[in-house]
Amino acid sequence: MTQLLRNFWSIAVGLYYQVSYEIVEFLISVLRKMHGGLEFNARIRYQYKPRANDIFIVTFPKSGTTWMQMILYQLTSSGEDFDHINDVAPFFEMTDGNVIEKLQSPRLLKSHLAYDDIPKTTAKYIYVTRDIKDVIVSCYHHHRSIHGFEGSFDEFFELYQAGKIYFKDWGLHVSNWMTNKNKLDVLYLNYEDLVADTETSIKRIIEFLKLEISEADMARIVERTSFAYMKKHEDKFDVVSQILKSKKLIQGNFIRNGKVAKGEGYLTASQKQFLREEYVTHLSRYDLKYSFE
Ligand code: A3P
Repeated sequence: MTQLLRNFWSIAVGLYYQVSYEIVEFLISVLRKMHGGLEFNARIRYQYKPRANDIFIVTFPKSGTTWMQMILYQLTSSGEDFDHINDVAPFFEMTDGNVIEKLQSPRLLKSHLAYDDIPKTTAKYIYVTRDIKDVIVSCYHHHRSIHGFEGSFDEFFELYQAGKIYFKDWGLHVSNWMTNKNKLDVLYLNYEDLVADTETSIKRIIEFLKLEISEADMARIVERTSFAYMKKHEDKFDVVSQILKSKKLIQGNFIRNGKVAKGEGYLTASQKQFLREEYVTHLSRYDLKYSFE
C-alpha cells in the first residue's frame, strides 16, 4: 500500500512539474511575443517623429520598392554616390528611430507596412502596386537566392496558398491602401506603367511632390534608375546579396529580370485561378487592370 502511494505520489509530482513547466514555457512564449510586439509598436509609434515633408514609399514586397527608392533619391538629391540605397532611403520598420531622426529632410522612408500599421501623418505617401502573378514569381526567386529556398515553383506556390510565406495577403494589403480610409495624401503608381514609360511616371511624382527638375537632372534620373544601371550596381541595392557575394556564396539576383511577364512560364491555369480569386475578392473594384486569362 505504502509503495503504491509512493508511486502515485511520484507520478503526481512528475506530472505537476511537467504540466507547470509547459504552462510556464507557454506563458514565457506569450510574454516574449507581446514584448517583441510592443517593442516593434513602440519603435513605430513613439520613436518616429513625423516631419511634414517626409515621403513614405510603400509597397507589397517585390513590387518595385527598390526602384522607387532609387527614383525618389535621384529626384530629391543631386545624385551623390551612396554605399547602399537603405542608407539614403531606410527601411522604416526595420531601422532604429535615432537613425531616421538624423536623416536630412525630405526623408525617404521605405515600408511594407499594412495600411493600419503605417503612421498616419500629413506626409506624402507613394504606393506602388504590381501584378500578383509577377510578384509571386519575383518572390520565388527572392526566396531561392536570399532565403535558401530549394524547392520548385509549384512547391513555393503551395506555401503561398497556405499562407506560410512571409509575403502574404497581397489582395488585402493593396485594397486597404487603395481604400485609404484615413485620406492620407497618397500617389498611386504601378510597376507596369513604370516599365512601359518610366519618364511619365517620374513626371507624376514630380508633380505630386511639387519638385522642380531641370532637363539635365531629368537625364541623370532616367539613366540612373534604368534597369541596366541598377543591375550594374546591384550591390548598392541588396544588403544580403552584397554580403553573400563578397563571400562568393551567391550570384546577385535582386535586380533580376525587371519585366512585365504576367507570371508567364511559371503559373499553371489553376494557380492563376487561385490568384484571380484573391484579386476578385479584394481588388476588382479598383482601377487595376490585371488579367488572369
Ligand atoms: P523581378 O524579380 O521580376 O525582376 P522590390 O524592390 O520590391 O523587391 O522589387 C524587386 C523587383 O523590381 C524585381 O523584379 C527587380 O528586378 C525589379 N526592379 C528593380 N529595379 C528595377 C528597374 N530599374 N527597372 C525595372 N525593374 C526593376
